[in-house]
Amino acid sequence: MIDSHIHILPGIDDGAADNAVSIQMAKVAIDDGIHSLICTPHDLNSVYKNTRKSILECTSTLQQTLSDAGIEIKIYPGAELHIDSNLVTKVMEGDAITLADQNKHVLIEFPKHLVPYGTESILENLLYNNLTPIIAHPERNPVIASSDHILKEWTSWGCKSQLTAMSVTGQFGSALQTVSKQWCQQGLVHIIASDAHRPNGRSPKLALAHQTISQWLGAEAADILLKTNPRQVIDGEELLNIPVQHSDAEDKKSGRCFFNIFSRTKRAL
Ligand SMILES: [Fe+2]
Repeated sequence: MIDSHIHILPGIDDGAADNAVSIQMAKVAIDDGIHSLICTPHDLNSVYKNTRKSILECTSTLQQTLSDAGIEIKIYPGAELHIDSNLVTKVMEGDAITLADQNKHVLIEFPKHLVPYGTESILENLLYNNLTPIIAHPERNPVIASSDHILKEWTSWGCKSQLTAMSVTGQFGSALQTVSKQWCQQGLVHIIASDAHRPNGRSPKLALAHQTISQWLGAEAADILLKTNPRQVIDGEELLNIPVQHSDAEDKKSGRCFFNIFSRTKRAL
C-alpha cells in the first residue's frame, strides 16, 4: 500500500518532531504493509510556511536518513495546502507544491468547522488550470459531512476526495464511519490515507482500512483506494473511480453539473 497523506518530515509542522520520530513512523508504516509515502506537511495555514523548495530539500534529506538507517521505504514530496485565496497563484508559480511534485494533484485542507466563502471559485480555478483538487478528509468537516450535496457536486466537477483511514475503521467514532461508508458506496471517494502525525495514536496504518473497505465494497475497490490511486498520484495520472452502481438519473444529473461548472468558470475568467 501507499500512504498519500502523512506528516513525517521532521520538525516542520505538527507531525514528527525530529528524525528519531520520523524513523519510528516509517517503521510502523512498513510493519503495516506500506512501501511508499507521500509526505504532506501543512502549508498556507498561517502557522506553518513550507515552500516547494524547502519540502523538496526536507524530503531528500529524510530519504537519505532512512536509507542510512537501513529502512527501505520510498518517500515522495507533497503538502497539505490550507484553502486560501492565494492558493492557485502559489501553486501555479511553483511556491506551493503539488502531490509528488507532479503538477497534477493538489491536496486541500479546510478549516475544521466551516467551508470558507470563495471555496467554489478556488476549486474551479484549479480545475480550469488542469490541476485536480483532492479534498483532504471531508468527512471530518461537519459542514461537508452533514450535506447531501456538497461532496457529490464537487466530485461531479472533477474534484477528488481522500478519507482518513481512522474515519473508515470507526476509530474516530461511528458518525464519521457512517458518512465514510455512505460516500464510498456512492463512489465519491478516491483515496484513503493515514494523515498520521506520530508513531502511535494517529499512526501510519492502512491495513485495517483496506480490510474494512474490502468488507463494504470488495477487494478491488480497496485496492483502488489504497494502492492504485495513490500510485496514480505519484505518477501524475488520473485517478480511477471505485466500482459502484449509478442509476441513469444520477449519471444525467452528474453530467449536467459538469457542464454547468465549466460554463460558469469560463464566464468568470
Ligand atoms: Fe494532514
